[in-house]
Amino acid sequence: PLVTTGELVARAATDRAAVPAFNIITLEHAEAVVAGAEAAGAPVVLQVSENAVKFHHGRLLPLARAAAAVAEQAAVPVALHLDHVQSDDLLRQAPDAGFSSVMYDAAHLPYADNLAATRAAADWAHAEGLWIEAELGQVGGKPGQPALDAHAPGARTDPAEARAFVADSGVDALAVAVGSSHAMITRTAVLDHGLIERLAAALDVPLVLHGSSGVPDDELTAAVTGGITKVNVGTALNVAMTGAVRDLLADRPDAVDPRAYLGVGREAMARTAERITALLRARA
Ligand code: G3H
Ligand code: ZN
Repeated sequence: PLVTTGELVARAATDRAAVPAFNIITLEHAEAVVAGAEAAGAPVVLQVSENAVKFHHGRLLPLARAAAAVAEQAAVPVALHLDHVQSDDLLRQAPDAGFSSVMYDAAHLPYADNLAATRAAADWAHAEGLWIEAELGQVGGKPGQPALDAHAPGARTDPAEARAFVADSGVDALAVAVGSSHAMITRTAVLDHGLIERLAAALDVPLVLHGSSGVPDDELTAAVTGGITKVNVGTALNVAMTGAVRDLLADRPDAVDPRAYLGVGREAMARTAERITALLRARA
């Protein structure tokens, strides 16, 4: 069934587990993630990023409606989340498109601008009944200097600054910079577990790990023990899908029906989603 992100994250926090949030690009991604979650017997979040919307000719509804239908018919609870939103126009489409939550991404702005934009987005989201996540990267040293993107390698979120940011913006969850970075193909990230614990102690909202594709299993489970409650995964699905498609087409150069290669791609994504979902749920 389709549920809300807020309830899945709250339940994960109570269990000291984490809910995996997978980025979907195609219908097959949504089907694969839900099949993997069903095999693992645990809930998941399907998330659509602003970049995925751009790929679909700037239109949110076609993929959103497909994902909502997949979620409604799932045997496990599934929520829909709009990810890495910078456009106010896209943000405002979230409720009608079936999303219960959004991640508002102004982390590239200087601190004061990030805070002002995020507070306005949070006020709007709460009036609409949406759960909202925001991001605080590493703030630059000089006034007016842009923040270091939260997922630049080496970026770190400061606990005292994060505490003030959450209090002043009113967000429901915070994406933090603790050593992961987006779009890693190899699983070689090393997380700052001491910082995760200090952030968890300083904040009374759930912590979100982005760029989790590059994080090895033992580092992920340690991060959940330390206080990470939502784990965002995108690239790992695409590595699995593309590898399977490449192998199929190499084996069968005469293949023309897309179901042949989309089918193996979907199956490979399902196994990846199952493994990660089972890993995070295992911390409960
Ligand atoms: O918001 C999405 C995630 O941070 C995905 O990052 O593609 O590196 O797993 P990833
Ligand atoms: Zn991200």
